Amino acid sequence: MQNNPLKGSISSSEEKQATLLELARRHEQRLAAVEQKLDLCYNELKELNYAHLLHDGMEESSWVKNRTFDLHNWAANYSFIYLLFRILDKIEPRNILEFGLGQTTKLTTQYIAYKNPEAYLNVCEHSLDWIKIYQPELPKHEHICVNHLDLEYFEYRRKRNDKYAGLLELVGDQKFDLIIVDGPVGGGKNLPRSNVVDLIGHGNLAEDFVIIFDDAERVGEKNTIKRTQAALRKKSIAFQTFERFGIKRQAYIVSASRSFAGYL
Ligand SMILES: C[S@@+](CC[C@H](N)C(=O)[O-])C[C@H]1O[C@@H](n2cnc3c(N)ncnc32)[C@H](O)[C@@H]1O
Repeated sequence: MQNNPLKGSISSSEEKQATLLELARRHEQRLAAVEQKLDLCYNELKELNYAHLLHDGMEESSWVKNRTFDLHNWAANYSFIYLLFRILDKIEPRNILEFGLGQTTKLTTQYIAYKNPEAYLNVCEHSLDWIKIYQPELPKHEHICVNHLDLEYFEYRRKRNDKYAGLLELVGDQKFDLIIVDGPVGGGKNLPRSNVVDLIGHGNLAEDFVIIFDDAERVGEKNTIKRTQAALRKKSIAFQTFERFGIKRQAYIVSASRSFAGYL
């Protein structure tokens, strides 16, 4: 229980006013804390709902053979994996570029191996240790390539940022219809994961496309999303943006032809 500053003797009307203001301030603080907790509870509920949707949705799937996803910590969350599953299942992308190896890759590799062996997947990852841990769990296929890329560093608004080095050389003139932006590590940077912006300038986007940004609630990722939208406008590429969230938020930038992804 908090002390009530109105208790005891109050000598003047100025003191009374100051005391009331202090009480109001404390109430406001407590209300803000309760609202924050309510938001968190709401996000947890949405997350649970997406977990159910994922389990129901995969029940009949013939191509998701390994369903042991570990969706916590730095990995993708349920809202992310659910919509990624729906996009792979219903849109059937033909050329996928994935930034950041991990849980999402368990799904994209199964898509190539068991659902659409004509399609291609390039995964970019900077950590050799991470590749050593994850690659043995993934299905093998000649159209699946896990690329180890070093990081390069640049300064943006007085903060150090990184991105994969040599990406444009690696992809050449390929056009991607699904780009998953979840690497390299993004937290604490103010223009993280900006390779996607370079790719648009370089003409690597297919006419029909979906770009997924994880961690879209963070300030840095919001900057990268804005830069991506600006790069699309500069190229006169029409697009729509929508978001999904559970305990983390994803932003989707899609071509008009893929706007139905927002209803999957
Ligand atoms: C945010 S993670 C996401 C990777 C992937 N899309 C997923 O769903 O798991 C991005 C990068 O963080 C690194 N990473 C992920 N989890 C890590 C961990 N537990 N410890 C160290 N690095 C980690 C990896 O280099 C990875 O490429």
